[in-house]
Amino acid sequence: MVRESRSIDHFFSAPSGRTDRWRELHAVARSWAKGDQARGKVETALDELGAIEEFHAFPGLELIGALRERLQNDDTSGFLALAKRISLAIITSNYKHDAKEWQSVDLSLADPVDALPSSLGDTHAHRPYFEMLAVTPAPAGRWPHMAAEFRRLRRSEDAFVYETVLAGSLEDAVCAAVLNPDIAAVVIYEGFALKSRHDAPVLRSVLAAQQPLLDKADEADLALRLAAGLKAIRPELDIYLLSDRRVEKLAGDPRAAMIRRVMYQIEEPLELHLSVLEGIKARYETPFFDNLKLYAQRPVGTFHALPIARGKSVFRSPWIRDMGHFYGINLFLAESSATTGGLDSLLEPTGNIKRAQEMAARAFGADHVFFVTNGTSTSNKMVLQALIAPGDIVILDRNCHKSHHYGLVLSGAQPFYVEAFPMPELSMYGAVPLRTIKKALLDLKAEGRLDRVKMVDLTNCTFDGHIYNTRRVMEECLAIKPDLIFLWDEAWFGFARWSPFLRPRTAMGAAADIEASMEEPDAIAHFEKQQKELGAAPSVDKLLNTRLLPDPRAVRLRVYQTNSTHKSMSAIRQGSMVLVRDVDFHKVEAQFHEAVFTHASTSPNQQLIASLDVARRQMELEGYGLVMNAIEVALDIRREVATHPVISKYFRVVGADGMVPQKYRSSGFVDFLAPDTRWDDQLRSMREDEFCLDPTRMTLVCGTAGFDGTSFKGLLASQYNIQVNKTSRNSVLLQSNINNTRSDVALLISVLLKISNEIETRLRQGGEAERKAFEARVHSLMNDVPDLPDFSRFDEAFRGDAGKTTPEGDMRTAFFTAYDAEKCEYLPIHGAECDRRLEKGPALISANFVIPYPPGFPILVPGQVVTHETITFMRKLDVKEIHGYEKAKGLKLLRRDALARKKK
Ligand SMILES: Cc1ncc(COP(=O)(O)O)c(C=O)c1O
Repeated sequence: MVRESRSIDHFFSAPSGRTDRWRELHAVARSWAKGDQARGKVETALDELGAIEEFHAFPGLELIGALRERLQNDDTSGFLALAKRISLAIITSNYKHDAKEWQSVDLSLADPVDALPSSLGDTHAHRPYFEMLAVTPAPAGRWPHMAAEFRRLRRSEDAFVYETVLAGSLEDAVCAAVLNPDIAAVVIYEGFALKSRHDAPVLRSVLAAQQPLLDKADEADLALRLAAGLKAIRPELDIYLLSDRRVEKLAGDPRAAMIRRVMYQIEEPLELHLSVLEGIKARYETPFFDNLKLYAQRPVGTFHALPIARGKSVFRSPWIRDMGHFYGINLFLAESSATTGGLDSLLEPTGNIKRAQEMAARAFGADHVFFVTNGTSTSNKMVLQALIAPGDIVILDRNCHKSHHYGLVLSGAQPFYVEAFPMPELSMYGAVPLRTIKKALLDLKAEGRLDRVKMVDLTNCTFDGHIYNTRRVMEECLAIKPDLIFLWDEAWFGFARWSPFLRPRTAMGAAADIEASMEEPDAIAHFEKQQKELGAAPSVDKLLNTRLLPDPRAVRLRVYQTNSTHKSMSAIRQGSMVLVRDVDFHKVEAQFHEAVFTHASTSPNQQLIASLDVARRQMELEGYGLVMNAIEVALDIRREVATHPVISKYFRVVGADGMVPQKYRSSGFVDFLAPDTRWDDQLRSMREDEFCLDPTRMTLVCGTAGFDGTSFKGLLASQYNIQVNKTSRNSVLLQSNINNTRSDVALLISVLLKISNEIETRLRQGGEAERKAFEARVHSLMNDVPDLPDFSRFDEAFRGDAGKTTPEGDMRTAFFTAYDAEKCEYLPIHGAECDRRLEKGPALISANFVIPYPPGFPILVPGQVVTHETITFMRKLDVKEIHGYEKAKGLKLLRRDALARKKK
């Protein structure tokens, strides 16, 4: 069924919105053919499709024309057959390689030689298909002719094949780029119109701020503005500009930097065709993977380690041959411990790995990229080691991944832990409010220790989907300390680069926006105006309550992002990247290489490196559509769970309003599913709100169905073959990604229904006693949730070098003190002795990290004083896995009497 709502999902979910409408047309055509439906209904359904179909090459004018003709002629069966065929071709993408799909005649009668767009699918090799958008002032009547012209340029040597989508205005061009993920290149002919022929009220409201500029723009200006607009939506698009005057001048305009080629309009069309193909090739190319494939074909004799390389030890063996058959020969042919002969060294890349990393930098909007083959756990430690020295202070979310905490132990930095807002009802944390981060900086400033603060280190988005306002956080922090380094752990968020909604909230997206804003002509004036308003000695409160602007002349923008490419893109497990956008990188480059040498294996896995290269290729060529699909899958799940009459009785996916407290949603955004929500509301929320929710991360509350997170996760896995992400006491986390299909949604929903029905039956048959037991269990899961313990403090023994009022501490010394068994003791948390010690001392000082799963953050770090809150939390915890805690022995503590006290 087509959804009635034309709300935000409609925009987010262009591809499936489209297939839904074709299915709908097919369904009404079937009823019409059976005589159950009037022609008018079919006409309406076809009209609904009309505008959207203009933005796609297939089915194109001819097929739509044929449908209309059959409609006019009351050819019910002919219409049904064609609608069915088109709808199927769209769902299966068959038209991308089968030329017959483009024909309007009945396929069984078609003459194969007479196939419409020649060379589509007529080569033996598989040629990837894309669509090219041509924005033109030519009248619509000429468009089929223009598309045919491009088709005529095809040659059998072409590596790719494309069809052309035509648009006559800026608004239509923007809509096409948004709605059609197959568009990979755009050709702009000067002289096109501004306004769409269609009604586009939401788009117009978004463009309204630009309107005066657009109205005044001359042809060349409008073309450049369109190019900039398209790049802002989809930076991966290649843009070509065709002008019939001043091309040299245009090419020299700095605003034309985002245009791949400026050409003279009358020039040889073949030149344009070849340029477009070359542009795609530049993204398709995967230097390391391409070389690895070549390497695998060569007969190489190996006299070095890695006997598994070439596979002879495997395939000749009667005992392990099955492994060879399972993985296939290429895995072994492409294995080598060599770094020469067409391969490269990950530790000191000079060849194809270097190029692959440069291409990844281009794709992700970074200056430099480092491939990492041991996961983001290692990426984080590399960045911390490279940039942080012993004694430096790092402002760190305590609820971050353990790699950060361990990274600080290794580097000897002092953590200044800041707390995320708690969500005790779901046993999880949100993200760290900006006010808390600013306060930390201002406190350190008051202590005269600002020079010691090197970095702010935060997780974006968090495990549960809280996205920071990365730009605002960085700008306001830079206003307090202009050379702060930012490490954004985007382990889960790498894919966000390919969503125009999410990109500005990524580290790299925000860094690009900050760089651009610092260049704006009035940036300094804005800063100075604010300085004047703040006065010479503004109070802390005033600084906390003001949206601070950094001084563009002083800012050194230094942004690092780590992402687990394997968590959200097609990289093999452990494939990770470090992205760098640091104006001072040249000063730390040597350190950075040292960090790589420290942490990277000297035997990195070739397949893993290749998969990072390929993941980049995929995202540059189809990431936009894939991410849109992942978002759409999430919205589908959210909607189905919320509206199903039985499922919604027991389960709910927490909405944006449940995950982000109102005070952090100043735009007024409520949720993706809230009535009347449009995509521009979402856009505004992404721009303004302190925190947003990543729609692809879904907290499914299962406590209301009587399950704790861990047992529900187990049930889904063992009985229904559904694997989910992490758990909390009363929820599980579902994640949709570029891999998911609508069939996956159907499976999940059917399973939730089955489980809900089982609960219904049990409650019906079990009578009052069963109902009471169920209610008590739900009540306990949903209400008896322990308070989350905040970081208490470092013991004075580890604060010799700390500020008087600020909480940082020397965690490394505490960590290594625990290596001396004489200085340690164990204390069971359940005994009376524990209560006595908490009451009367000596203080309990944690010897190591204690990290329960879930929730997965350290409730204790080395050197931290254990408090009542921590013990109460641990006593209430009903999880089995607690890293750093041996139940039989008790808490590992540092003996107070064995530690030197802080000298006053
Ligand atoms: C926020 C965060 N950072 C880093 C990591 C570690 O990433 P990897 O598994 O790639 O080592 C994780 C893993 O779950 C994570 O959640």
